[in-house]
Amino acid sequence: FSTISQISSQPSKPPSFGIAFDIDGVVLRGNTPIGGASRALRRLYDGSGVLKVPFVFLTNGGGIRESKRAAELSELLGVKISPSQVLQGHSPFKQLVNRFENELIVAVGKGEPAVVMSEYGFKNVISIDEYALYFDNIDPLAPYKKWGTIDFAVHRTRKCSINSKRVQAAFIVSDSVDWSRDIQVLCDILRTGGLPASEEGPQPPLYFAHDDLKYQGAFPSERLGMGAFRIALESVFNSIHAEALKYTYFGKPNPVAFKNAEVVLKQQASFIYRELNIVNHANSGSHDFQTLYMIGDNPAVDIKGARQAGNPWFPILTRTGVFKGDHHSNHPEFSANMVVDTVEEAVDFILRNEH
Ligand code: G3P
Ligand code: MG
Repeated sequence: FSTISQISSQPSKPPSFGIAFDIDGVVLRGNTPIGGASRALRRLYDGSGVLKVPFVFLTNGGGIRESKRAAELSELLGVKISPSQVLQGHSPFKQLVNRFENELIVAVGKGEPAVVMSEYGFKNVISIDEYALYFDNIDPLAPYKKWGTIDFAVHRTRKCSINSKRVQAAFIVSDSVDWSRDIQVLCDILRTGGLPASEEGPQPPLYFAHDDLKYQGAFPSERLGMGAFRIALESVFNSIHAEALKYTYFGKPNPVAFKNAEVVLKQQASFIYRELNIVNHANSGSHDFQTLYMIGDNPAVDIKGARQAGNPWFPILTRTGVFKGDHHSNHPEFSANMVVDTVEEAVDFILRNEH
């Protein structure tokens, strides 16, 4: 194994480890860096700001494009983050482009869910905010919602083409902002085969970016996440429909998220080889890591996921987020290989361990 300084001075020894950082409750709470995150991340670069240790952010959060999130994280954390280092809960939706490329699909959630999906290559995507506007009175509570909505121009021709065409799939990209409207409109879409106000029909596919029941934001106690919204939607749908709701989720703890992170970390390792001029390294195209560290705050998501993913994943649990156990405790069900106070302590351990 190599230390960071050895990596700089002995280019024949590339890193045999990588790190996946959770975001909420590990490096940020809301938009505030926590746990010495900036200092910890700076240690993964050399003095000129060149990346020396492969790392990614593996977050279930999202609602904005990876490029925009990378710019935000760079600004907040003071290190240069590239879009390829940002793996969000919805990033694996890209894999469904072949299936739904030209089909009408609805994107739900805070931020810019339709913009995110368009960037992935979906050509006929509409946000649920805009979709709801094409159906008069679909949300009877709308007049009471004083917060206002985004002002989409509702064109007559577009209205006809949208509300007479079947929605082929719904994607929950990020946290629903208006649960009552989104549950209503999704039930309309899902029970009618994608055509609100029509007869019942086969349920279109429903995809969630993740299934987090709770997460650590800026508020002292955990907030309800997308998993809570899923429970609400499922409970209502199953009460009004004979067949149970069918759905898929992609983020952590799904092994797909960890596989994907490993692939991206391998690409980064290859890049680091090239930067270090290791031209003849036999494994430069298919780098095998001895250890991949997952630093997370949510035992049922980050730790469970890394444990399920198996070798070479090594889960580390911080006490800055969802997990609030004392100094000597681990989580009883999803125990981490190591429990630390902060992300800085985790990085310190990793760099000493990899000496
Ligand atoms: O909505 C985001 C939240 O559920 C989890 O984010 O960064 O802790 O995976 P993160
Ligand atoms: Mg977290």
